[in-house]
Amino acid sequence: MSKERVNYKKMYYGFPIFFVSFYDEQGVPNITTISSSFSLMDMVCLGFGSKGYAINEIKKVKDFVINIPNRSFMKEIDFCGFNSGRDCNKFDAMNLTPIKSEVVNAPIIEECTIAIECTLTDIIEREYYRGITNILAKVKGRIVSSEALDEEGKLNYVEVDPVLYVGDSAKRVYRYTEKETIDEAKSFL
Ligand SMILES: Cc1cc2nc3c(=O)[nH]c(=O)nc-3n(C[C@H](O)[C@H](O)[C@H](O)COP(=O)(O)O)c2cc1C
Repeated sequence: MSKERVNYKKMYYGFPIFFVSFYDEQGVPNITTISSSFSLMDMVCLGFGSKGYAINEIKKVKDFVINIPNRSFMKEIDFCGFNSGRDCNKFDAMNLTPIKSEVVNAPIIEECTIAIECTLTDIIEREYYRGITNILAKVKGRIVSSEALDEEGKLNYVEVDPVLYVGDSAKRVYRYTEKETIDEAKSFL
């Protein structure tokens, strides 16, 4: 396979895009769009630019919700990813509905299929990664809409429709996954 060394400043190799929702210090609900994350068991790690409104409020209030949108939320993904909560209430601007979580002090976006309720545990800011704030958070609860569950309450994989962020420093795009293109893990062994 022929390969070339590239000098991109950044590279997104397919990260699921989601909304982070929270109540700010005044108790006002707001939202931001992010894609930098991973999760293991009951831990999530999220990456933010240090100057954003959402991360600076979440550092104070601790609780937030990860909401997974599908491809019908592209306008909302764009809006919440290119406007700051310092200047507007994105719930109102996008006509989204904040529902208070029962397990954390943060709003769930009613319109999204999956909500993951979290409490911040660690803030990681290093001189050598200036401008980046990583946070670790504990997952306190998960809520899935009935359409994305089978009769036994298990996740209906076909109904999970993540939008991926793919690109380099020059250009990023939204990449969609096709329904029915599923293989069970371990089925190739
Ligand atoms: C698809 C997409 C993915 C994004 N991913 C991230 C991310 O992982 N981390 C981040 O800090 N900002 C990310 N952004 C940019 C923020 O959403 C943007 O800076 C936003 O205006 C910040 O809003 P806030 O000031 O209300 O927090 C992303 C934007 C888009 C459109």
